[in-house]
Amino acid sequence: MAETTPDERKRRLGVLFGGSGLIGGTILNYFKQRRPGLADILAPNSKKVSLRNCNDIRAYLMTVKPDFVINSAITNIDSDSQLAFEVNYNGAVNIGRAASALKIPYIFFSSAATLPPGKNLTEEDQLPLTARLSNYAKSKLMAEKTLKYMHEHEGLDYSCLRLSVVYGNHDHKIQGFHRLLFSIADEAMPVLFTKKGTLHSYSNSRKIPYLIHHMLDNRDEFSGRTFNFVDRDPVDLGKLILSIKSHLQLKSPRAIYVPYPIARTGKNSVRVLLRLLTKIGLKASLPPELMFLGAFYRTQTLSSERLEASSFVDPLPDETVHSRLPEMLSYYLTRWSHQNLITTFDEKLHFDISIEKDFEENPQALLDSIHLDATAPFAAIAPGQEGFPGASHKD
Ligand SMILES: NC(=O)c1ccc[n+]([C@@H]2O[C@H](COP(=O)([O-])OP(=O)(O)OC[C@H]3O[C@@H](n4cnc5c(N)ncnc54)[C@H](OP(=O)(O)O)[C@@H]3O)[C@@H](O)[C@H]2O)c1
Repeated sequence: MAETTPDERKRRLGVLFGGSGLIGGTILNYFKQRRPGLADILAPNSKKVSLRNCNDIRAYLMTVKPDFVINSAITNIDSDSQLAFEVNYNGAVNIGRAASALKIPYIFFSSAATLPPGKNLTEEDQLPLTARLSNYAKSKLMAEKTLKYMHEHEGLDYSCLRLSVVYGNHDHKIQGFHRLLFSIADEAMPVLFTKKGTLHSYSNSRKIPYLIHHMLDNRDEFSGRTFNFVDRDPVDLGKLILSIKSHLQLKSPRAIYVPYPIARTGKNSVRVLLRLLTKIGLKASLPPELMFLGAFYRTQTLSSERLEASSFVDPLPDETVHSRLPEMLSYYLTRWSHQNLITTFDEKLHFDISIEKDFEENPQALLDSIHLDATAPFAAIAPGQEGFPGASHKD
């Protein structure tokens, strides 16, 4: 790879780890579509640069010499301790070491998993670091602590954004809130597995790139600081589930709140069943919606005061998970129907009916019709046409 120095480049160059994920994809899309010309973003995937490998990180960043680096990579939420430690913690720290050496800003994403239950939790709140934490929470909490330490002792210019329940399009792994949407749409939730009045904070993925952009432009204000990034008003989980159900015009889940001890007994029974299946050679794991059952029964809300008091201006102040529901439901239901993950909404999501019919029943006729009029080179990029490289030069 050819080396360039920041002075030789016109636009800022950023490196983004985790660019194929929900948050990373949204950031990439912002810099490519919404703010083209602002910065070039390189987003190597985990095959090219694995955060498990310190040499990968160092060699890549030292060669590219970016102007800033963003880390939204994480390993799967249920990974074992080694993978969680290597990717979520060690990877995050090694990026910090490179950023420190290059003297560039480093934007790191953390999670409300580092926080206890409770209301209006601030950036100063943290869980105690104990052996009992999940691998995910432990690795994120340790990363928060080490990056702060590196800021204080090594002058690392970093900012930490703590997210809560994230909502937005392009979650291709169907995790967190989108797993909840999926379970309801798939009619796999007969009743409410939560307690009346349980509140959570929600983070709007669409707004995140605006904040990153602003933070990169205002390092004096944002360097060395953690910010909770959540919508101001917490969301009642039971009411949200019932609202999704009503948008989808489904009969379930019924408005019956299942007490936690009963739900936990059900979860433990599934766990025993899965262990038995493993013994006869069938490998299956606990559905993600059951893994975090406890969180459905605990209120956890984060204060957005610190960010509101900063110079950042919310670009979409009225947007909430409730206001975005119709658009997100349409996006995910279309996607999941096409992927044959759910069948309930097939009838509403047909693409051009004649094409679909021909594709299914008479592919030769469809092929012939396409050969007749839809295979010519795109006019705008054919030689001699405006827009084709070199078309305006007469040699
Ligand atoms: N989504 C949420 O609800 C939520 C809530 C709170 C906090 N967060 C935080 O937000 C951040 C982004 O989360 P997300 O939901 O966008 O994650 P995601 O959709 O699961 O994406 C994970 C990304 O990490 C990359 N990755 C995995 N293993 C890697 C490795 N060994 N080396 C390099 N890259 C690797 C993946 O790249 P490949 O595809 O190339 O493997 C993928 O791009 C994380 O820090 C997470 O803790 C998310």
